[in-house]
Amino acid sequence: MVKKAVIPAAGFGTRFLPATKAQPKEMLPIIDTPTIQYVVQECVDSGIEDILIISGKGKRSIEDHFDRNFELESRISEREDEATYNQLRHIEDMANIHFIRQKELNGLGDAIYHARFHCGNEPFAVLLGDSVNSSIIPVTQQLIDAYEQYHQCVIGVERVPHDKVSRYGIAGGTHINDRILQISELVEKPSPDKAPSDLAIAGRYILTPQIFEALEKTPRGKGNEVQLTDALRLLLKQEPIIASVIEGKRYDMGNKLDFLKTTVEFALRRPEFAEPFKAYLKSVVND
Ligand code: UTP
Repeated sequence: MVKKAVIPAAGFGTRFLPATKAQPKEMLPIIDTPTIQYVVQECVDSGIEDILIISGKGKRSIEDHFDRNFELESRISEREDEATYNQLRHIEDMANIHFIRQKELNGLGDAIYHARFHCGNEPFAVLLGDSVNSSIIPVTQQLIDAYEQYHQCVIGVERVPHDKVSRYGIAGGTHINDRILQISELVEKPSPDKAPSDLAIAGRYILTPQIFEALEKTPRGKGNEVQLTDALRLLLKQEPIIASVIEGKRYDMGNKLDFLKTTVEFALRRPEFAEPFKAYLKSVVND
C-alpha cells in the first residue's frame, strides 16, 4: 500500500521569472486555484492523505494556503457566501500536510532525500509541485496500480515528439505491455539519434525506500545538483524499475507557454467560463 506522498516545491522557478522572484511558482493559479492545490487533490483522489511538502526560502505562502484563516472565514461567513466558505474549509481539511525546509537548493534528488525520516521504510509517491495532470483516473493512482502489480519503483512517462527528446529524461527498455516498460536505461536529455525511446519522465513516481541509499551515493550532476534521475540510474543496478505510460495530459506550470495553455484549457472546461471564453478566444484569434 502506498500511503504517503512527497511534493517537492522548494525550487527557484527561474524559468518563470520575474513572477517567481517573490512568490512560489507552485502558487501560480490555474484560473483561481493554486497549482499545488491541484497536486494535493491528485494525491487525495489517489487515496493518499499523508503528504510531505518540501518547502524552502520564500515558500511561506504554500503553508498559509493549507492553513486555517479564521479572520477570512468569519468575514466570508458574515456575507453568507456559503460556497466560498465551504471552499476555504475544504482546502484546510484536504489532507494531513507536513512541511520540511530544504535550506540549500541542491536539486530534486536532494529535495527527495529530505523525506527519508518521514517515509521510513515505506514506498511513497512523488509529485512535482509545479506540474498538473488532467486524466480520468488520477495519474498517481495509475502508478500506484502499477506498483501494486509489479512491486518495483514506477516512473510515470509520457510520449513526446521525437525531435523534442533532448529536453527530457528519457526511459528505454522492453515493453511488458502497451503501458508498462521494464526499464534498462535512463538517459538525461539525449540527442534524438541517441534516445532509447520517446518516453519522457513526467513528474510522477512511486519510489521504494531504497532510493534514499541510492541518493546518498549519488554525486552532484548537472547544474552541480543532486539529480533524482542519476539516483534512479544507480538504483537500477540493484533493483528492477518500471515505467508506466500515463493516461492523461500533463501540464508543466513552470514553463510560461504551458502556463498559458493550461489556463485556456482549464477555463474551457469550467461551465461558468466555457461559452463566453470560447466566444472571446474566437474573436481575438480572428482579429
Ligand atoms: P524544477 O527543476 O522544475 O524546479 O523542479 P526549479 O529549479 O524551481 O525550476 P527552474 O528550472 O529554475 O524554473 C521540479 C520541482 O522540484 C522542486 C521544484 O520546486 C519543482 O516543484 N525542486 C527543485 C525542489 O524542491 N528543490 C530543488 O532543489 C529543485
